[in-house]
Amino acid sequence: MLPRPPLCCTLCFLITLPSFAQSLSVDERVTGLLKQMTLEEKIGQLSQLFMFGPPGPVEEAVTQGRVGSLLFVTDPKVINHLQHVAVEKTRLHIPLIFGFDVIHGFRTIFPVPIAMAASWDPDVATRAQSVAASEAGSVGINWAFAPMLDIARDPRWGRIVEGAGEDPYLGSAMAAAQVRGFQGNSIGAPGHILSCMKHFAGYGAAEGGRDYDASYISETQLRNVYLPPFHAAVEAGFGSAMSAYMDLNDVPATGNRWLLRDVLREEWNFKGFVVSDADAVKSLKVHGYAKNLADAAVLALNAGVDMEMAIGKTAFSEGVADAVKAGQVTLDQIEAADRRILEAKIRLGLFEHPYVDEARSQQILNAAEHRTEALGAAERSAVLLRNEGGLLPLQKGAYKKVAVIGPLADSQLDTIGPWAFQQDLPETITVLAGLRRKFGTGVELNYAQGAQISRKFPSFFDDITHFKPQPAWTPETAREEMEKAVALAKKSDLAILVLGEAQNMAGEAASRESLDLSGQQQQLLEAVVATGKPVVLILINGRPLNIIWASQHVPAILEAWYPGTQGGNAVANLVAGDAVPGGKLPISWPRNVGQIPINYAHNTTQAPENQGKRYWDEESTPLYPFGFGLSYSKFVFSNLKLNAAEIHPDQSVEVTADVENTGSVPADEVAQVYIHQQYGSTSRPVRELKGFQRINVQPNEKKTVRFSLGKRELTYWSTAKREWVEEPSTFDVWLGGDSQAALDSTFRVVP
Ligand code: BGC
Repeated sequence: MLPRPPLCCTLCFLITLPSFAQSLSVDERVTGLLKQMTLEEKIGQLSQLFMFGPPGPVEEAVTQGRVGSLLFVTDPKVINHLQHVAVEKTRLHIPLIFGFDVIHGFRTIFPVPIAMAASWDPDVATRAQSVAASEAGSVGINWAFAPMLDIARDPRWGRIVEGAGEDPYLGSAMAAAQVRGFQGNSIGAPGHILSCMKHFAGYGAAEGGRDYDASYISETQLRNVYLPPFHAAVEAGFGSAMSAYMDLNDVPATGNRWLLRDVLREEWNFKGFVVSDADAVKSLKVHGYAKNLADAAVLALNAGVDMEMAIGKTAFSEGVADAVKAGQVTLDQIEAADRRILEAKIRLGLFEHPYVDEARSQQILNAAEHRTEALGAAERSAVLLRNEGGLLPLQKGAYKKVAVIGPLADSQLDTIGPWAFQQDLPETITVLAGLRRKFGTGVELNYAQGAQISRKFPSFFDDITHFKPQPAWTPETAREEMEKAVALAKKSDLAILVLGEAQNMAGEAASRESLDLSGQQQQLLEAVVATGKPVVLILINGRPLNIIWASQHVPAILEAWYPGTQGGNAVANLVAGDAVPGGKLPISWPRNVGQIPINYAHNTTQAPENQGKRYWDEESTPLYPFGFGLSYSKFVFSNLKLNAAEIHPDQSVEVTADVENTGSVPADEVAQVYIHQQYGSTSRPVRELKGFQRINVQPNEKKTVRFSLGKRELTYWSTAKREWVEEPSTFDVWLGGDSQAALDSTFRVVP
């Protein structure tokens, strides 16, 4: 029996009775609650605290109604305990909402987000996030701080691993796909949780790729490149958004009224709530934007932040009550923020079902079908970058002795990648383990680590990921280990090298000024290739790396990204030909770090014939273009047709082409359509992705792909006109398997 609240009106009392409450609309329920809440309780709902370790002080704050949400609690027992405190001990029985970074899985870890984008298959992302939602939800997590929708064109930025890469069209498709996965058909759908699009906005353009540094983004870039995935997410029904850390054009995103109110609320009509990034409200002072903490709270609230995420205490709890008295913030504003948060809690069903069933949670976390999904996702995310002489798939029976070499070949943590905290590490299949399972006793597999990856700058996440670095090898050990690996390669028929980046080298606070293979990996690679044995290079990493040497000397290169729990099985299936690579790059792969930023959708400018030779000392083209990826089969695109040569604004042109599998295995191809507006009120990118479809085609089969290019695809933000325009112009169209597709045509938009 719940303790009775003091009665202020009949509705206020009845609202606390679940059976009656359910008969009211969400709006009526929120109004009833707001009527009873004190100012402190209202501010409490706007406060979210981290909880690392035992409940202690956090529990006290919950009891006093000073907290509306907690994050980083993952034990269902502790969650239930704290929820009991919130529901039974607080005056108004308002449940907590528990948030967590469920980025690419909870217990079952999927490939990292950039890998899922490389699948060019939004369904992969939907299914992955749906599994993640059910696992996280089963322990009592109601809210995922994902997906990250930041467009990233600088691979030095460590968080490039968390997004969908460089392109707004692909990014928008992946954004909408993930909301379906996390939230299901609507907020509160059984087995689903609330999702949070982040980091609003412009974080991916941090200067120099240095995490947290300021971004300077022109309005044309913001509107046409950085904001579209967020807009697509709002249209798809995202329930919450996270304001970013950094300064955007000198105004911190978390205090940025233009972003949070004018764009997000007014233009896009976003109905969910906005949470700040961790301590980002307090940081307004650090930025030199707020005078003090109280000022920071006022600026954030006025800008449009509804909930403050903080460590220890919130600026809201420090400053908002006084700000109300001083008239700097109105009660209406606070209630509007509360309303959005309470609405989410009601829609999620937290008032009716605040607790989780701990026993059932174990079944969900251990579901075998979740591992099957993770395997499929990892297979579909891998990108085959090179395959000289058709070395892959390995010819059956041709290699009796195989050397598996490299610091990432048998490392479970590195196979999983960053932003994974609740994985069952021992069940993670490394590449070595996957190959052993696949080849059984038919092939003699031997392993040598060969090199160590330098972990000179361990990330602060190491504490929570329980990362235990190997002690650094002495120069003598390093030499011996490399010799052992080379000797192993010499006496084998084939070497599979697994190189790339350790788990903590990508993600938050993991930016890099070099994209080189770190530690002695490059030396190891060259030494193994020098043995003359065929070499397959498997990359485990979160960003494009400097593989220019490998691209000339290693016959087969497979980009596996951080592939997750089932990564090793996926790689083994791909290497053996039991799965066929079909992934494509979601980012242009630079030749070297000096080319950054290098993205396919640049403008054509002076001397376009010289576009690939803009540098004195290196080509100015990428090593591998955006959208690129090989297959074990071959595809031919033909018969590009447009159903009209001329359309009026608001009309569409239908584009079709045939895709034929001319190889010998059933395989996937990603048909991609690009456009270029030849002239208009501003210069437009040389190519822009405007449609894609991943299709499976049997050998000798021809399939027709269809795309529609209309208002949505042809409209852009014109800086010259300061509005969205669809302009009369001639448009080039290309259709093919990557951003350098050659099959082309044109059409005109006429007034
Ligand atoms: C990150 C967010 C994350 C939050 C909570 C911040 O440091 O920028 O992406 O959701 O921490 O863990």
